[in-house]
Amino acid sequence: MPVKTIIEPFRIKSVEPIRWTTRAQREQLLKAAHYNLFLLQADDVLIDLLTDSGTGAMSTHQWAAVMEGDESYAGSRSFDRFRSSVHDIVGYTHVIPTHQGRAAERILFGVACKKGDVVPNNTHFDTTRANVEFVGAEAVDLLIPEGRQPSLSYPFKGNMDVAGLEALIARVGREHVPLVMLTVTNNSGGGQPVSMENVRAVSAVCKRHNIPLYFDACRFAENAWFIKLREPGYENKTPKEIAQEMFRYGDGCTMSAKKDGMANIGGFLCTNNDILAQQEKDLLILTEGYPTYGGLAGRDLEAIAVGIQEALQEDYLRYRIASTAYLGNHISAGGVPIVQPPGGHAIYIDARAFLPHIPSDQFPGVALAAELYLEGGIRSVEIGTLMFAAAAQMDLVRLAMPRRVYTQSHVDYLVEVILEVYRKRESIKGMRLSYEAPFLRHFTAHLEPV
Ligand code: F0G
Repeated sequence: MPVKTIIEPFRIKSVEPIRWTTRAQREQLLKAAHYNLFLLQADDVLIDLLTDSGTGAMSTHQWAAVMEGDESYAGSRSFDRFRSSVHDIVGYTHVIPTHQGRAAERILFGVACKKGDVVPNNTHFDTTRANVEFVGAEAVDLLIPEGRQPSLSYPFKGNMDVAGLEALIARVGREHVPLVMLTVTNNSGGGQPVSMENVRAVSAVCKRHNIPLYFDACRFAENAWFIKLREPGYENKTPKEIAQEMFRYGDGCTMSAKKDGMANIGGFLCTNNDILAQQEKDLLILTEGYPTYGGLAGRDLEAIAVGIQEALQEDYLRYRIASTAYLGNHISAGGVPIVQPPGGHAIYIDARAFLPHIPSDQFPGVALAAELYLEGGIRSVEIGTLMFAAAAQMDLVRLAMPRRVYTQSHVDYLVEVILEVYRKRESIKGMRLSYEAPFLRHFTAHLEPV
């Protein structure tokens, strides 16, 4: 009989205590933080699901590699290891290290885009959109309609609308589309995957118009696992073979190694274009560092070289995706409305449906996130009206799972706390703003219960 219990495919060698607080303490702490969880001290959080970025646990192999770090300014051995490990997966000629994902984005768009250009993506992540707009180009999201319905279950809700892409290129003209991007998995759309069929179709459109295709590859390994689970023809391929195939349909990528690089810092930019790579390296020297370290220490390059391969291990991916799904499925079975199906790195609670008595202008996502902290010391993040103001199409609360950090019993605890908050949902009150900064207000806003 196959055993159904999910177990972590690792044992723990080094532990980090987490700190319990009482409900009375949390009431004080939350008030002092103006009901904005960004303003809490991390030590006052029991389970921190603010982000899966840079919050993962490194393996013994990674820590051993850290000690092998070659800190030479130029021509470091660690860069060779990093380059060959990344190249083994992505296959692109040029691998340019950066300190994190947004640095790779800034350099790519700084070199490849100009004012008046249009960059299509399934859904731009905020920093990606901001970096496109910073050079005066327009960031256009072309997600399939299924991807925009939270409760609809569909296997590849991250797919790009291929007909929409064709129409956009026809409307603005090929000369105004310097590149097309696919974000795998689609973070802003619920951590949903993109199918290989969709990658192939987008790639064919790009080739026909001679437009390069780039991947925002942050969660490429999780995307590969979803393809293995859900796409006919891939069940017997390894995650690595799937990832390699996906990258072959493109011309380059940006990457935050803080996600599927399994590192606490780092990123890279890849391309097959020699001329572009030269310009990118020139810009890199100006702001990030010499092309064999790009703003990272040699030891960081080593950690990524090992981590990016570990992210593709089947035991790890099976546990990772099952554990996120377990959280989503158990709270959903208890009635909690979530973006369906569960994503790879996070569960997104639909706060408007959870708290129908709180109108959007009273920030239902913020109210729910505050209540999850009060009830169980859980830190999540609102993705809704506080973050996007009038542009918010949904009010979501994201529970992002750090990699290899929390165990099955932590997840059981999360389920219990969330269901308890759901039981009390009618007593939860809306919020009003008492301070907001002129931009990116969600990081520093002050709120109070209505
Ligand atoms: N692209 C995607 C899809 C991302 O999710 C992120 C980061 C980035 C680019 C930028 O990478 O942080 O290394 O500069 N996402 C984090 C999150 C911050 O919490 O979702 P970075």
